[in-house]
Amino acid sequence: MILERRNQMNFKKLAGSVDNPPEGIRVAEMQELAHLYQLYQAGANEIGTKLENLDSEFQVNYDHNPIHHMEERMKEVASLLEKLKRKGYERSIESIQNNIFDIAGIRVITNYIDDVYLIEKMLLNQSDVTLVRRKDYIQKPKASGYRSLHIVVAVPVFQSNGAEVVNVEIQIRTIGMEMWASLEHKLRYKTDIGADVVAQYSTDLKTYSEELTTIETKMQAIYQQLNHYLD
Ligand code: GTP
Ligand code: MG
Repeated sequence: MILERRNQMNFKKLAGSVDNPPEGIRVAEMQELAHLYQLYQAGANEIGTKLENLDSEFQVNYDHNPIHHMEERMKEVASLLEKLKRKGYERSIESIQNNIFDIAGIRVITNYIDDVYLIEKMLLNQSDVTLVRRKDYIQKPKASGYRSLHIVVAVPVFQSNGAEVVNVEIQIRTIGMEMWASLEHKLRYKTDIGADVVAQYSTDLKTYSEELTTIETKMQAIYQQLNHYLD
C-alpha cells in the first residue's frame, strides 16, 4: 500500500454540518456538494490506482520504484467555499467544476528528481488522462524556495448514467522537497514567534532549498551509476 487515503468520504462530514452549516450553506446545496464530492473522490481513486499500477509495473520490469508513497485528500467544504469567495467565483456547482481544480488532490512523493518527470510522462501517456494545467516549480522554484511539479489532469469517471470528466490536482515532489515544504508550511503558520525570527528562518530555508537541489542531483547521479554497474 503506497497510497494513503485521508478524509476519503466527506459525506459524514457534510451530514455532520447540517446542524452547523459552514457559511450559511443550504441543505439542498449540501446534497449537490455530496454528489460532486462522490464524483471527485471517484476521480481521485482512478488516478491513485493508475499511479499504483505504474509503480508496480516499474518494480517488476525495471526493479525500480519511482514512487516512495502517496497521499490523497479531498478539499474541506469550508475551504472550497472560502476559495470561491476569495477568487470572486459564483457559488454554484457549475462554477466549482469550471474554476476549482483542487477538490481532489493527490501528492506523489518520489525518491529522485527524474522520477517526478517519469511519473508525469507515464500518467499523461495514458489515453484517458488529459493535461489541464501545469506548473513546474522545480524548473522555476517559488520565491520562498518551494519546489514541486503541479499538474491538473482530467479523467473520465463512469457513473450509472454515463461518463463524467473530472479534474484531479497532482503535486509530484521528491522526499527532499516534501521535507522542505512541510517545515516551511509549519513556519508560515507559526504566529507565536517574532517576525525577525520568521524572516531569518525564511532566508535560511531559501538557501536550504538550493542546497537540497544540489544534494538530490548528486545522490541521483550515484544511484544511476550504481544501476549502471549492476546491469
Ligand atoms: P491556490 O490553489 O488558489 O492557492 O492557487 P494556485 O493553484 O495558483 O497555487 P499554487 O500553484 O501555488 O499551489 C498551491 C499549493 O501548493 C498549496 O496549497 C501548497 O500545498 C503548495 N505551495 C505553493 N507554494 C508553497 C510554498 O511557498 N510553501 C509551501 N510549503 N507550499 C506551497
Ligand atoms: Mg491550487
